[in-house]
Amino acid sequence: MSGLSGIVKVVIFGATGQTGRLLTNQGVAKGHQVTAFVRDPARLDLPNGSVRVIQGDVLDSAAVDRAVAGQEAVLVALGTATRRGSPQVLPQGIRHILDAMERHGVRRIVVLSAAGALRERAGSFIGTIGLAVARVFLPGVYREHRAMLEDLRTRNLDWIAVRPVILTNGPWTGRYRVVTEGIPRGGYRISRSDVADFMIRQLTGDEFVRKMPAIAN
Ligand SMILES: NC(=O)c1ccc[n+]([C@@H]2O[C@H](COP(=O)([O-])OP(=O)(O)OC[C@H]3O[C@@H](n4cnc5c(N)ncnc54)[C@H](OP(=O)(O)O)[C@@H]3O)[C@@H](O)[C@H]2O)c1
Repeated sequence: MSGLSGIVKVVIFGATGQTGRLLTNQGVAKGHQVTAFVRDPARLDLPNGSVRVIQGDVLDSAAVDRAVAGQEAVLVALGTATRRGSPQVLPQGIRHILDAMERHGVRRIVVLSAAGALRERAGSFIGTIGLAVARVFLPGVYREHRAMLEDLRTRNLDWIAVRPVILTNGPWTGRYRVVTEGIPRGGYRISRSDVADFMIRQLTGDEFVRKMPAIAN
């Protein structure tokens, strides 16, 4: 494992999402060479030429392959299936992305997952109950996240899976707590902007490679 340094050529899956937009903006602001993989380019609100855009669906392996070819790293901020019975986005999407990375020799991937996906304890009774309740009400969401993490674990790649607690649209603070076991004690929320900050930092840092850090304010 060796960290990337300086400017990274990175493709962002889910670039039109609430976290993905922040990832894209922060990636560009840090000077990285960003490719945005999107279903609908009209949903990207960026100055012309600031990112390369590839239109596609992550369920289409050929489109994913085109987007991963020539990159140095991958960021994933995909959502889960929105309707019952529709194809699972995260398990299929991550398989297409990881297979493409192996084909093209791209090693670094940072994915956005969710606290609770590992059925982990929160470090406080209320937090652990909160995670359990979330799993009961959103079983499909957690099933997709778990399947994504299980696939990641089997790959000989430099992967980092970020497990945030409840996401908010609050401001960037740059101050958050990170643990690799359980979740930060008493941490219930984190802004999407801080999650994006942490994910961008993982493009060039090795501390959390092959780990699943949980993050909270
Ligand atoms: N909400 C929370 O409190 C919370 C807590 C922890 C973890 N999470 C997890 O964090 C992740 C991101 O959350 P978010 O709120 O930023 O998500 P979001 O706003 O719903 O964005 C999801 C992104 O995924 C893209 N996408 C979905 N299906 C796709 C497909 N088949 N092909 C290509 N792109 C596809 C969407 O594209 P379009 O713009 O085309 O729809 C969008 O860019 C989710 O996996 C969520 O489960 C959420």
